[in-house]
Amino acid sequence: CGIVGMLGERPAAPLILEALGRLEYRGYDSAGIATLDSGRIDRRRAEGKLGNLASVLTRLPLAGNVGIGHTRWATHGAPTEGNAHPHGTSRVSVVHNGIIENHAALRAELEAAGQEFSTETDTECVAQLLDLYLQQGMSPEKAAGAALARLEGAYALALIFAGHPDLMIGARHGAPLAIGFGEREMFIGSDALALAPLTRRIAYLEDGDWAVIRRDGATFFDRHGARVERAIRETRLTGAAIGRGNYRHFMEKELHEHPVVIGDVLSRMIDPSSRSVALWDLPFDLATLPRATISACGSAFYAGLVGRVWLETIARLPTDADVASEFRYRAPPLPSEGLGLLVSQSGETADTLAALRYMQDEGQHVLSVVNVPESSMARESDAVLETLAGPEIGVASTKAFTAQLTVLACFALAAGRARGTLDAAREAVLTQALMEVPGQAAEILSEETTAAIARVAERIAEARDVLYLGRGSCFPVALEGALKLKEISYIHAEGYAAGEMKHGPIALIDKHVPVVAIAPSGPLFEKTASNLQEAAARGGQVVVFSDAAGAEKLCGIAAETVVLPTCDPFVAPILHTIAVQMLAYKVALLKGTDVDQPRNLAKSVTVE
Ligand code: G6P
Repeated sequence: CGIVGMLGERPAAPLILEALGRLEYRGYDSAGIATLDSGRIDRRRAEGKLGNLASVLTRLPLAGNVGIGHTRWATHGAPTEGNAHPHGTSRVSVVHNGIIENHAALRAELEAAGQEFSTETDTECVAQLLDLYLQQGMSPEKAAGAALARLEGAYALALIFAGHPDLMIGARHGAPLAIGFGEREMFIGSDALALAPLTRRIAYLEDGDWAVIRRDGATFFDRHGARVERAIRETRLTGAAIGRGNYRHFMEKELHEHPVVIGDVLSRMIDPSSRSVALWDLPFDLATLPRATISACGSAFYAGLVGRVWLETIARLPTDADVASEFRYRAPPLPSEGLGLLVSQSGETADTLAALRYMQDEGQHVLSVVNVPESSMARESDAVLETLAGPEIGVASTKAFTAQLTVLACFALAAGRARGTLDAAREAVLTQALMEVPGQAAEILSEETTAAIARVAERIAEARDVLYLGRGSCFPVALEGALKLKEISYIHAEGYAAGEMKHGPIALIDKHVPVVAIAPSGPLFEKTASNLQEAAARGGQVVVFSDAAGAEKLCGIAAETVVLPTCDPFVAPILHTIAVQMLAYKVALLKGTDVDQPRNLAKSVTVE
């Protein structure tokens, strides 16, 4: 969910609405705004996309220059107007991201005390608790301190109080929250992106912090109620970075940013003159690591799976990888002084953050590959490798994923050199291969190749089920291709290790099931080719993604071929990812789905 708050001297609702637009990627099944008008709380809410709330506000504008807003990704309760935030009473209004785990107990206690609830949401118990304390004569600040102490679970909150036009309170416990400083204007936002055009001066709440905000500034308190200072930083984000430009969708724009983003990562990590990876000051020794453990969610996990192959093959570092939601509860024993490696675009995904903390408790050196440098994961890690992809607004990850791959590729090279498994000559070959990726990525985005991908899309758009196959470092690309197709076109797809197809999925194959093969030339090409023969022999329509040599070899069995640039097998997963992401995009266009905001999804999942 996304949270915004504003306290200033201009009408708040239009600015809050605009800022919610920049947070819509965090959830978009309902939205609402509350403001204080002549000291009284007034609110508007609407089910569905933010556009619905905008229409409501056009008909029934909200006055006042202090207010809070919310865009929701439903956890407790259906995405109806009644369950939309803000929640509250005549005394207080609340927007909330996260889950209050002890809401049932609090509700029972509050109902017994005579508080009347009007929704089933966990958030309302925060409002009712505050309301009760206010009725007992506490000041809003006291009531907030007392209420926060009673809450269990994860939350970010923004609060406004009737009769207090120069007050807004923000709190964070497990879900991110930023405070923006303007000229006699103050803001609250789930992230700096929401606030980018309003102010670039941002202070981040630490976990457990809360802030009392007035027009002339903010006072911060830690989880024990002690006053603390939190630094105000200038964010690098600008409003321009988050526009859609002339592209039809953010996803299209972000696909076209691949070459620049990968180039940015490489110029930070590679010294082109010596063709070697630049050494970083890591607070641990790559040479002596006994093991690496990778954990992440969604696409980021698939990037981690490619990273595993690279760390094992290039650096000979034993590496394990697991999705964070499983990892955190498996209680895996980890070797002392091992490496914990987290991969996350947002740096806020609840399960990945929990995996990070588990790794820390198990004595790992924790390294995060994240895109948001101020995120919780970045701040809690021993070291950070930034992915430098810039804001990614499309819910389905594109450039952030290839940036993760690029960072992991460079990291594997650095680890290989440190561990003596990669000599300088080989490192030069592999860095050279990486340096060619931005140009090759641009070739994939050329009109010619995207037209070939669009032709394949016509076939895929007709299908009910699609199988993606790959081997080695391209097996995770098959997983990513299938996930992307599911996410934005709602076509069922599965990613499979090509060699595993004969152990089950082959039963699905007939002429209605396209088989998309990620089959670059390389040591595993022939193996993948035989699996494709098996699929073709059973009537499967094989769609081949390969380089010219591979495409030539498979022309006898391929129903359709997309020829990608010839590259070193090391970088093939990066290039093939761009192609399968583009395929999903083209299919979604044909299906007419909501590409940037697919149903039921959210970009940043800060709940378990
Ligand atoms: C959500 C998004 C995915 C993303 C995953 C992990 O499910 O829809 O695209 O891969 O979260 O997010 P993270 O921010 O940790 O990379």
